[in-house]
Amino acid sequence: MADNSALLARRERLLGRNMSLFYQDPVHIVRGEGVWLWDADGRRYLDCYNNVPHVGHCHPRVVEAIARQAGTLNTHTRYLHEGILDYVERLTATFDKSLDTSILTCTGSEANDIALRMAQAVTGKTGLIATNHTYHGNTAAVSQLSTRMPPVGGFGGHVRHVPAPDSYRPLGGEPGEAFATAFAAEVERAIASLEESPFGFSALIIDPFFANEGFPDLPQGFLDKAVAAVRKAGGLVIADEVQPGFGRTGEHMWGHQRAGIVPDIVTLGKPMGNGHPIGGVVAGADTLNAFRKAFRYFNTFGGNPVSCAAAMAVLDVIEDEKLIDNAREVGTYARAGLLRLQEKHGIIGDVRGSGLFFGAELVLDRNEKTPAADLATKVINDMRERGVLMGKLGIHQCSTKIRPPMPFSREHADLMLSTLDDVLTAL
Ligand SMILES: Cc1ncc(COP(=O)(O)O)c(C=O)c1O
Repeated sequence: MADNSALLARRERLLGRNMSLFYQDPVHIVRGEGVWLWDADGRRYLDCYNNVPHVGHCHPRVVEAIARQAGTLNTHTRYLHEGILDYVERLTATFDKSLDTSILTCTGSEANDIALRMAQAVTGKTGLIATNHTYHGNTAAVSQLSTRMPPVGGFGGHVRHVPAPDSYRPLGGEPGEAFATAFAAEVERAIASLEESPFGFSALIIDPFFANEGFPDLPQGFLDKAVAAVRKAGGLVIADEVQPGFGRTGEHMWGHQRAGIVPDIVTLGKPMGNGHPIGGVVAGADTLNAFRKAFRYFNTFGGNPVSCAAAMAVLDVIEDEKLIDNAREVGTYARAGLLRLQEKHGIIGDVRGSGLFFGAELVLDRNEKTPAADLATKVINDMRERGVLMGKLGIHQCSTKIRPPMPFSREHADLMLSTLDDVLTAL
């Protein structure tokens, strides 16, 4: 078996310390295909984690589209080219008709950075509201929103955090109307506080699926009151679709459609190019034009012909292989399997999610709902030892994060479930 210690030492020497790495025994991946990954020893792993290779690792149609365009032309958006126009036309057709223009970027962070500035351009204000367990990216402006690593010098006075919705331990004490009202009341309080500050209120930014917060099961219409409060105050709603977008939740193309809201700005990333770096912002023409007027913006690589070809191939495959239907069908099947495991294993406190983004919250005690964060780490590592890759996340870092490439089948779900059963039995 290959010894990873030399590779680890080289990595630390060349890339620096504190660069995150999954698993106590890191995996040295050398090849991928569909939902499978292979390490340097030729061992195969079932990938239940990676959402970036959305239509499957190294999907031949995406590979072919990239190669074809890379062999023809790759340049920037200061020349005329149909590729970006064809793609934006096709992309925006999947949104509400009020969201009809786009700026393409290379990452989700860049997309969110633009979204924040769009809100500034429209409102003339800078105050932002986000949840207290979110992550929206790594630029200087966007990382101000993340509570995982508070910024050096503390959070800017223009940021207010509201409690992330937790359907297992809901604000307001019950999972229905009171929960939604309590969340909206927090948003209203944050708006009032910003309006009293020199910054004023410009936008609420949320992932409508609250993926990083642990994908709570929210009642239909949960966000309505919060969105109404934002609109009443003259602010904008930014939906970060980097995680739930492109049909992952199995019900709609976009997480905000599933949540039943129409945002002012939508941001995209991870799955958009199946691993090729492309992100984007979708907004109404007035919002986009206000941004372009206030900030002269150019992105050297954003929207280049190769990226657009990759992204177009992703849309083709989602449609032709009916991957949204597959996400719904296999996701429902897999969650039913997790519920069966919950009957057998007391450590599973809650099962939730939608489509091919789901998981189980692990607890030490079901009555007290005491988070089992250390055990969750052990479970993830034991799964890796048995050849199934998954992660963990959530407010208490004790929910398994199962978010595989979209061609995940019932047979793959069965393998994941039986391995999890074995791991939980052996705990
Ligand atoms: C919800 C959300 N938004 C934005 C980002 C940032 O995307 P990127 O890493 O492409 O900059 C992430 C990355 O994990 C994310 O989870």
